[in-house]
Amino acid sequence: MLLRLKQLAALLDGQTDWLANCANFSAFIFYELPRLNWVGFYRLREDELILGPFQGKVACSRLKRGKGVCWAATEKRETLLVPDVHAFPGHIACDSASQSEIVVPVVVQGKLWGVLDIDSPVKNRFTQAEQKFLEQAVQMLVQHTQF
Ligand code: SME
Repeated sequence: MLLRLKQLAALLDGQTDWLANCANFSAFIFYELPRLNWVGFYRLREDELILGPFQGKVACSRLKRGKGVCWAATEKRETLLVPDVHAFPGHIACDSASQSEIVVPVVVQGKLWGVLDIDSPVKNRFTQAEQKFLEQAVQMLVQHTQF
């Protein structure tokens, strides 16, 4: 995981543009971590989460407040690890292949900018160690980027 964080730092180095960095960030995670079917960002815009850079199949372009894992993480401002999406009331299935999910809030200078959303076609895919890694990776993204 430490090596991956170093690789990520190298990838983000010398670029501060949010679109470029979020695009590369999602590709990096998608190809570095096995058994994922979607990695991407949703940006908070008033009462909606709007689709941002991602890797994977086409996804819902907006998520209305109050439903789903992304909004739950947004409201709580904390990471949500969902081992089985079918057991999460209100889960929004952009891809019916998704079985587990993790959503990490992206907080910039105390303000919630959006969320990083990751889906897997495998139940119980995400570990506590990966949660920590992903939170550190998002922190690194925030440090390198002008949002
Ligand atoms: N599953 C998310 C919706 C976004 S897609 O998975 C890409 C949710 O429940 O908020």
